[in-house]
Amino acid sequence: MSESQLWRTVDGYFADRLLTDAPDEALTAALRDSDAAGLPPIAVSPVAGKLLQLLAQVRGARHILEIGTLGGYSTIWLGRALPPDGRLISLEYDPRHAEVAVRNIARAGLDRQVEVRVGAALDSLPALADENPPPFDLVFIDADKVNNPHYVEWALRLTGAGGLIVLDNVARGGRVADPDNTDPDVVGTRAALDLIGSHPRLTGTAIQTVGAKGYDGFALARVLA
Ligand SMILES: C[S@@+](CC[C@H](N)C(=O)[O-])C[C@H]1O[C@@H](n2cnc3c(N)ncnc32)[C@H](O)[C@@H]1O
Repeated sequence: MSESQLWRTVDGYFADRLLTDAPDEALTAALRDSDAAGLPPIAVSPVAGKLLQLLAQVRGARHILEIGTLGGYSTIWLGRALPPDGRLISLEYDPRHAEVAVRNIARAGLDRQVEVRVGAALDSLPALADENPPPFDLVFIDADKVNNPHYVEWALRLTGAGGLIVLDNVARGGRVADPDNTDPDVVGTRAALDLIGSHPRLTGTAIQTVGAKGYDGFALARVLA
């Protein structure tokens, strides 16, 4: 068995034993319909989706911001963590992805709590800030990695003390630690990590992961007072 097959098998083993709450057909259907619509298979894995949900629950999140919706798979995991009066806004550049996501989110029964906004996140974020929304309790950043430092800055601006920022795909197969790698996605991710490490209002860490999606990692930051 190859290394990646082993990671996939163990992910399946964990999912079988731990993702045992009421089976969520909407999540399975979201992946199926995203695939059928030709969306790339780059949603978070089921075990990572559950981690996002647990983080939102531990934080007691009532307001969640997601940057990078794709077909709404992670959106549904996060949306399920919201209390009845909670709200999630998800930003997506590609109208085709957003269209699929909106259908998936509606089938999950989350359409009254979840809003997908179409456009480049760096345009949507200032518009969102102009609305003076209540501080977000959790921000999940999972879009174009080149803009990661800007997204962390916006997340900081739009969250209150105790807010959580989750930044996905930070290991990038180890490329993040290769100083010779000048891929803009890697450079953007490095800059976001530097910002988390150096900003006086942020404290954070990063964890490498292997699993069904290969070798990568995520960073977790907490907003200080
Ligand atoms: C990795 S996928 C998101 C996966 C999703 N969070 C999940 O786990 O189900 C990244 C998404 O970000 C979107 N995206 C890329 N650039 C963007 C931008 N500038 N603004 C908003 N969304 C963007 C892509 O179209 C894609 O749908």
